[in-house]
Formats: sequence, C-alpha cells, structure tokens
Amino acid sequence: AEDGLNAWLRYARVPSASHHLGKLPSAVVTLNATQGLPVHTAGKELVDGINGLFGKKLTVGKSKGTSATVGTVGAYVDKNPSAAAGLPDLIEDGFYLKVSKGNVLILGQNERGALYGAFHYLSVIAQGNVSDFTLTSNPDAPIRWVNQWDNMQDGGTHGSVERGYGGDSIFFWDGYIRDDLTRAGQYARLLASIGINAVVANNVNANASILTPENMDGLARIADAFRPYGVQLGVSLNFAAPQLLGGLDSFDPLDKTVINWWQGIADTLYKRIPDMAGYLVKANSEGQPGPMTYNRTLADGANLFARTLQPHGGIILFRAFVYDHRSLNQTLDWKADRANAAADYFDGLDNKFEDNVAIQIKYGPIDFQVREPVSPLFAHLRKTGATVELQITQEYLGQQAHVVYLAPMWKELLDFDLRADSKPSTLKDIVAGKRFGQKLTGYAGVVNVGTNSTWLGSHLAMSNLYAYGKLAWDPELTSEGILKEWTTLTFGQDKVVHDVINKISMQSWPAYEDYSGNLGIQTLTDILLGHYGPNPGSQDGNPWGQWTRADDDTIGMDRTVWNGTGYAGQYPPEIAAMYENIETTPDNLLLWFHHVPYTQKLKSGKTVIQHFYDAHYRGSATAQTFVTLWRKLKGRIDKERYEHVLFRLVYQAGHSLVWRDSVNQFYFNKSGIPDELGRVGNH
Ligand code: GCU
Repeated sequence: AEDGLNAWLRYARVPSASHHLGKLPSAVVTLNATQGLPVHTAGKELVDGINGLFGKKLTVGKSKGTSATVGTVGAYVDKNPSAAAGLPDLIEDGFYLKVSKGNVLILGQNERGALYGAFHYLSVIAQGNVSDFTLTSNPDAPIRWVNQWDNMQDGGTHGSVERGYGGDSIFFWDGYIRDDLTRAGQYARLLASIGINAVVANNVNANASILTPENMDGLARIADAFRPYGVQLGVSLNFAAPQLLGGLDSFDPLDKTVINWWQGIADTLYKRIPDMAGYLVKANSEGQPGPMTYNRTLADGANLFARTLQPHGGIILFRAFVYDHRSLNQTLDWKADRANAAADYFDGLDNKFEDNVAIQIKYGPIDFQVREPVSPLFAHLRKTGATVELQITQEYLGQQAHVVYLAPMWKELLDFDLRADSKPSTLKDIVAGKRFGQKLTGYAGVVNVGTNSTWLGSHLAMSNLYAYGKLAWDPELTSEGILKEWTTLTFGQDKVVHDVINKISMQSWPAYEDYSGNLGIQTLTDILLGHYGPNPGSQDGNPWGQWTRADDDTIGMDRTVWNGTGYAGQYPPEIAAMYENIETTPDNLLLWFHHVPYTQKLKSGKTVIQHFYDAHYRGSATAQTFVTLWRKLKGRIDKERYEHVLFRLVYQAGHSLVWRDSVNQFYFNKSGIPDELGRVGNH
C-alpha cells in the first residue's frame, strides 16, 4: 500500500543499478535551505531517490567527490557571482539542470523551481539515463492548479468527495479539517513532481463553514502540509457566506458591509497563510448563489473577491460554468441551449475584470463529455486571462472502473485552432497567454483523490494525473511519451509491461467513445443518477440541458444559427462556418451540431444508426482484449497491482457489453431500423 501512495515516485531499484554509481553524485549540497521549504525538500528527495533507485547513499554537505548542488539562482549567484552570465533566463517556477560526470547543478528561478529540477533529474535517472545533459525548462503557463471537490459536513456527509471514486477526503472529516494531514503532504509531493503549484482543497459547491475561525486554522494546517513541496493552498467560496455564516442580511457584492465582511475574511486567511494562492468561485450555477441574485454582473461578483485579495497578492479563478438549469425548457423551446450559457453570460465583460481574475472554463460548453467541441468562450476573452478546466476524475468517463487514458483527448482539445480573427489560435496558445497576451492563464484539473491507497481508486488512472501535470507544464509533449515515462516510473522497464499498458491506454479513449456515445451525442450515461452506466433515455425531458432530442426518426441538437440554438455562431467566423454546415462538420461532432434522420449518411458512407451499432460493437470488442492483454503481465508485476487492475478490466469488459446492448437496443426500439449485420433487432 505504501508503494501505491508513492505512485510514480516509488524510487524502485533500476536494472543494473550498480554499474551506474560512478555517474551519480556522492553528496548533496543545498543552497540556503530552510527546513520545511522546497530547497530543503529537494535535498531530501535527492538522497532518498538515489538511495532507492541505485542503492547509493549520499552524504549531505560539501565533499571532495562529485555532488548534486540544488538551490535558487539567486542563492547560487550570491556565492558564485561570476557564474551569473552563463545562466539561462528562467521565468517563475522554471529550472536549469546541468549534469556532468556525476556533478549535478539544479537551479530554480524560485525554491519551487529548484524542487521541480530535482524531481526532473530523479525522473531522468529513474528511467535509466545517467548520461550528461543540460536542460532549461520553463512552464508554459503560470496557473497549474488542481481542484478537489471535497465536501465539509453540511451536505450530511463525513468528508465525502463529490465525483470522487477513491474514498473519503484526505482533508476533511465531520465538518472539520482532519487532525492527521499526512496524506495531504504526500499528495503535495506527487503534485510537485509534475509541476502543480496549487490545490483548491474544498468543493466548488462550497460550504460556508469552511470560513469559521476554527476551520481557517485548519486550512492553515493544510497549507503547512503543502508548503515543503511549494504547493499553495486555494479555497473555494460560497457566495452567500456573508449571510449564511456572517449573519448579514445580504450578500450583494456591491454592499459596503458585504465588502467589509469579505475583506475581513481575506485578511484573516492571509494572516494565517501568508502564501495562500487565492480563491476559486462557482457562482450562479446549478442553484449556487451569486451576484446575479442581486442583478449584479459576474464581473461585479469576481471583482469583489479580487479586490480583497489584492493587498495580499492572491488571485481568483472565477468559473465560467454558469447556467441556470431551472430555466431550460426542452419541449417548449427549440432554441434553448445550455451550451450557449457561458459565452452569453460573459458577453461584454471581458474588460471589466480586475487584473488578478482569471476565468476558469471547462474544455467544452456542457460538462466533461467524452467528445465536446472546445468552448467558444476561449476566443472571446482577450483581456481577461483564461484557464482551461480538465477533469482527471472520470465523472462521465467510467469513474475509474473503466480505463480511459485521457491525454489523447486533452491533446486534441489543446491543439484545436479556434481561428480567432482568422489567425492561428490554438487552445494551448490561448491558455499560455501567447495568443492574446494575458498574464494570468493556465490550467485547472479536477482531481478528487481520496484516502484509497491508490489515490484515485485505480492504479492505471494515475497516468491521467501524471499526464495532466506534464501537459500543463508543456503541452507539446506527446501522449505516448508521457505514458512511457509514467509506466517506467510506476512499473519499471519491462518491455512487455510497456507494450501492454501502451496498447490498453492508447485504445481506451476511442473504445470508450465507441461504446458510450458516438458522433458527438455525448456520453449517454444516466445523468440523473450518478453519471454512471448507460441510460440514453435520461438525457432528455429534464431541464439539465444535456439533450439529444432523439425521437423515432431523428436525433441530435440543432445548434446552427439558421435553424437551431445559434451556438455555432459563438465561434469565430471560420469555425462557425465549419460547424454551421453539415458537410463540413466532422462526423465525430455531427450530432452535437445537427439534428438529422437516423438514416443520414456520414462521410464514411454509413448511416448514423448503422454507425451507432457498429461503433458499439467495435468499442466493446476492444474492451474484451484489454483483459487478454493484461493477463500477459502475470508474474511480470507485483501480484497486488496485477490483481487490482485485472479485476477492474474484467469488470470493464462486462460493463462495455451492457453499454453496447443498452444503447443499441434503445435506438433500435426508437427507430425500428435493424442492424445491417443482424446483431441488433427483434430477436
Ligand atoms: C458537474 C458535476 C457536478 C459539479 C459541476 C461543476 O455538473 O456533475 O458534480 O458540481 O459539474 O463543475 O460545478
């Protein structure tokens, strides 16, 4: 279990370790290290790592032999003024690494960067590479956060995690912050090793009670557990807290007493946690309170917090996931569309936000579906920075009971070119601030680890967390490259193990899309009960707005401007034109944008309904092969992980058949069109 907790940082002995000892440092020297801060941690990791990986025990402090020197550029240049000229430019959190004949120099722009450099070096040697190299590495974007959706008690729960599939919260229990925060520190260690610099610990559906004096003290203890790893704490706020907790009769963001109340909160938090990252706010969404309750704009709401954070240097991530599920009526209104909400609500607000606000936008306009177009809002915000919200916890994607390696999906989204002003405008360039020049941009990943000894509830799901951090640092990395690295660090170098994990992982997203929901119809999960398992009928006839508009003859959401909800028109002109027209809409998003007969011909020549049938057979057949593949690893990896993963893969194989038959039969029953291959129909 301890190994599970160490995930990709297990520092297991590398093959032929003893042959490499001469190319490794013999001592560790930390520059200006303070106990409890990242440079000190870096020194400790180097000692532990080299001991675990190679069985070589390093001495601490200057020695005659080779050494690994780690610290900030500033501390290094203080001691060696003449070295300054030879050092590269680093931005915040960046690092420089030089390995030469067993001597290693690891310099960070700040302490956090130094720790990142140490982890990077350890990852390189853990992959068996002890050759000389020099590397300068800067992050692509400054905001690289994760969001936990951990509950306090108010919901009647004891530290549960919303959409969490790996056990209870590692932070909260019974309405308070846990006494024992060992796991919080271990989590921060994993996150630091992949470049994550902040964690929002409590759910976006926030309990006001997170801000009681006692709980603010508790938050300070979480921040203490994170600090050795350079991970900052962020806090989710409940917009109505002045009323719910403060006893005020309003939470109007323009009301003086409300503003003062929030200023008091910020001051108190920063007194306890001087290096707090800032806030995350979900407002006016799914029944949550917000500024619109008082007819104020979303900018009024975000700026209220932004101003209270400014004296302390904090930032606020304000979510664009704003929609009112009570106002959507499918039957009466052909043009109603939840997908329109974000761009509509933020219309005209781009230049209204304070400088320390970034807008956190889910990758697609609905909700973490297996296939969504990139949210058009990314092309609208030019002055205000944006972060893209990705979801590591597999809410709609099998809840860690199905293997779905997500890096290929994220890469496709990040590489998508929105063509703003008809110029190259990839999502990755927008969230790096390269396209529009904003300063506060980046990534937010919903992770939801829990007390389970695998963190996420499945060993293989950890490749998603690893890939998230790596891509937030450098979106040019390849899905397969990241996976290979993760596999080596987690399972070692056995080629058979690599082949199997590569095959399963790289086929897993396409397979899941095939058996869960094709052609942009969304993941056809039960959207009323837990977002798990097939229930295509549950999408429609309710106000949640994840509609398919399937009837006996036709299916799909008409989101065109000429005849539909107008959503396609929210994109810059070239993209809008592509999606407006059936001919130019890619097949994999056909039903996202168009309402068509089941007999509509795809570019492949197949009809929509036949594609459904075939894809569901194909995807579930692929899932069967995962079991056979994995069985090849018996005896090649430890029994515990072998059995744990096998159990899940066997389940996934079975459940994929449930998916296949439920979805296929559902559409057969609706359309009455039999499968050309005779598999689906009246038997
Ligand atoms: C989804 C999810 C909710 C979550 C919400 C959000 O709808 O099912 O659990 O609260 O997204 O992102 O705010």
